[in-house]
Amino acid sequence: MADEILRVNQLHYVVQDGEQQFTLLNQIHFNVYSGESVAIVGASGSGKSTLLSMLAGLDTPTSGSIVLNGRDVTQMSEDERAQLRAHQIGFVFQTFQLLDHLSALENVMLAAQLSALPDKRQQCFDALARVGLSNRVHHTPKTLSGGEQQRVALARAFVRKPAIVFADEPTGSLDVATGEQGIEKMFELQQQANTTLILVTHDEGLASRCDRRLTVVQGSVTEQVVV
Ligand SMILES: Nc1ncnc2c1ncn2[C@@H]1O[C@H](COP(=O)(O)OP(=O)(O)OP(=O)(O)O)[C@@H](O)[C@H]1O
Ligand SMILES: [Mg+2]
Repeated sequence: MADEILRVNQLHYVVQDGEQQFTLLNQIHFNVYSGESVAIVGASGSGKSTLLSMLAGLDTPTSGSIVLNGRDVTQMSEDERAQLRAHQIGFVFQTFQLLDHLSALENVMLAAQLSALPDKRQQCFDALARVGLSNRVHHTPKTLSGGEQQRVALARAFVRKPAIVFADEPTGSLDVATGEQGIEKMFELQQQANTTLILVTHDEGLASRCDRRLTVVQGSVTEQVVV
């Protein structure tokens, strides 16, 4: 049996907007084992991105715990969470969020520099090679296609060999075929490094490729067993 990498317990998140209170996450509870791929699905506005940013330590819940590799993220200081993200977490954003003035290599280097990786520059070249971008390392994002930008974002997320990668709609605004090529790469990288992968998607095909599926309905999570 694989080790448990993530345990989410009674996760609750309420925001106050003037007089009104909104419960964005409602007593969420689930576990994820090392090496699993988990799809988070649900209607627009159900709370998927909110949940993902909590899990990645980008936001703090009102109550509940998120134990990642044995440590409760919700009890960490800002600095400790930054360290956690630098060493153990990779993130792929819907809009990829590459820095425009940096080359593909420099974008990946930025992530690697925060890590304890040896021989960082070579590791970044290798990460870009694994996503088929050896001939684009010195291109800036504006001179890359959407699909190429997605692959730079994947190289950046995986270069530190993180324990867990979070991806929020990683096919972004790409057309179906281009998005799928990137997704193939993502699963390849995940399997090579035995990374745990938690991704938010509206794409049924992508969700069905994952080991498990969690559905978010108005801030609550239910699990459907994938057969
Ligand atoms: N700080 C906030 N204050 C009030 N409401 C918020 C805040 N942040 C998010 N919301 C609301 O919480 C709900 C969940 O937002 P979230 O971005 O997590 O949805 P989502 O499931 O990722 O949707 P989509 O599929 O459209 O990306 C939305 O209704 C959103 O408007
Ligand atoms: Mg979202």
